[in-house]
Amino acid sequence: MVKVGIVGAGFMGSMHANVYNLLPDSKIAGIADIRGEKAKSLAAKFKTIPYYDPQQMIEKQDITVIDICLPTFLHKEYVIKAAEMGKDVLCEKPIALTVEDANEMITACKKNRVRFMVAHVIRFWDEYRFLKEVYDSKKYGELKTFSCRRLSPLPTWGWQDWLLSDDKSGGALIDLHIHDTDFIRYLIGENPERIYSKTAMNKEIPYSHIYTLFSFKNGLVVSAEGGWDYPAVFPFEMSYIAKFEKAVVDFNSKNSPSLVVYEFSGKVDRPVFEKTKIDGAGGNISDLGGYFYELRYFVDHISHNKPFIIVTPEEARDSLKLTLQEKESADKGIEIVL
Ligand SMILES: NC(=O)c1ccc[n+]([C@@H]2O[C@H](COP(=O)([O-])OP(=O)(O)OC[C@H]3O[C@@H](n4cnc5c(N)ncnc54)[C@H](O)[C@@H]3O)[C@@H](O)[C@H]2O)c1
Repeated sequence: MVKVGIVGAGFMGSMHANVYNLLPDSKIAGIADIRGEKAKSLAAKFKTIPYYDPQQMIEKQDITVIDICLPTFLHKEYVIKAAEMGKDVLCEKPIALTVEDANEMITACKKNRVRFMVAHVIRFWDEYRFLKEVYDSKKYGELKTFSCRRLSPLPTWGWQDWLLSDDKSGGALIDLHIHDTDFIRYLIGENPERIYSKTAMNKEIPYSHIYTLFSFKNGLVVSAEGGWDYPAVFPFEMSYIAKFEKAVVDFNSKNSPSLVVYEFSGKVDRPVFEKTKIDGAGGNISDLGGYFYELRYFVDHISHNKPFIIVTPEEARDSLKLTLQEKESADKGIEIVL
């Protein structure tokens, strides 16, 4: 049984708690949040112990895994605290706000011989897993064009509006768009050779909308758009279109079915993905999506002492690095050769 202490009882802390509660090999052994009432109500829901001081929970002997669901600017401090207490760690994405911080976190986990995974959930999301599978198997031939998009209303739901502060969240670029940057690197299995980014300039909310072209050495060009400057009534959207030699794979989270494969032979396929529905997941989410597979993978790999392969901390750091290079490209108005 993997005994987990969750730090941060906000949107993600609640989502993770819902998943651990469903997994037979994990037990929520505590939930910590500086907002006492948040820790208390989430802990009551899952019949566990609330903590107001995360350090107290991290020090508990019976807790062997610490799951960091804190605002990004706090990731480094708490990952290192947990590692120093000898706890295995899961940390929400993005790993950190700077590559230097990410490296310190990786070093602390290595030095203290604890396992460390960063929760890049899109690598575990059904429709993205489907794409990775058909890309790797070449079921539809080589990938020829690929574009993805992630659009959201302004995130005003975070604790003390931390998401709206670039110093705390990195803005839409580092918080939201990194999902696609990371998935593109994972899909293709390498870094692009060149990137060119533009941000939609908005003085009130800088880095709130970005467009990037990623050029790979085989000639493939991938585009990604990410923004969280839409009105509150706009339903969150994540989507992609991938054209292979033999088919187009078309995914949009707003569609039902969400994913359709249009083959050049004339065949049309609508794969069905089983959803783990729950009430009260939080945010705009009505099922556990990739979070279920992500945490199931994490708990299974911790239980059986298997190395993390789908996402390593170094991969999370490299995706952060690439996203920061997109910022540099946008700031300087130049294409960056990597
Ligand atoms: N994977 C995804 O799809 C996804 C989605 C949303 C957020 N995230 C990431 O998850 C992390 C958390 O985001 P969120 O949306 O849950 O934020 P949130 O604001 O909803 O929750 C953060 C919680 O941390 C608590 N907190 C703040 N400082 C603390 C401290 N020192 N000790 C203990 N608790 C403290 C706050 O009271 C709040 O309840 C971020 O890194 C974010 O980027 C990932």
